[in-house]
Amino acid sequence: MARFMLNGKPTVADVDTDMPLLWVIRDELNMTGTKFGCGIGACGACTVHVGGRATRSCITPVSAVVGASVTTIEGLSEQGNHPLQVAWHKLQVPQCGYCQPGQIMQAAALLSDFPDPTDADIDAVMSGNVCRCMTYVRIRKAIHKAAAAMRQEVNDERAV
Ligand code: FES
Ligand code: FES
Repeated sequence: MARFMLNGKPTVADVDTDMPLLWVIRDELNMTGTKFGCGIGACGACTVHVGGRATRSCITPVSAVVGASVTTIEGLSEQGNHPLQVAWHKLQVPQCGYCQPGQIMQAAALLSDFPDPTDADIDAVMSGNVCRCMTYVRIRKAIHKAAAAMRQEVNDERAV
């Protein structure tokens, strides 16, 4: 049995606590936005946030998140309109789409550390997220676009 917060809601999963978080999320809790790629922490498809930090759910036993706050792509924003999702849509980032939930979750963690990231910041933080369709150039552009939108939002709030 594992209890944790999932996308802001108290959640109980009746599973062995050594089960990887990825399979708890997908198979037990039916949230399929988080993807399986490699299963060894090497591709980033399974990236979620645990306590706001980007985490590879395929190599994280659910015991490690007991009492913690987990966010998946489904919980990144209520309406699917997080600035990253808006930028991804505007710039038509995805090709097959498979890696993209993990890319967006990794990018969201990046922007909390680097509100105005350089290309080098983006490349360093995103380098562990693999895209077989080679969408890297659009991903980088979309991160810059989302970062600008988020900084504008903050400035607008300060001006009120
Ligand atoms: S599926 Fe977790 S890093 Fe590849
Ligand atoms: S969009 Fe196809 S793997 Fe990234």
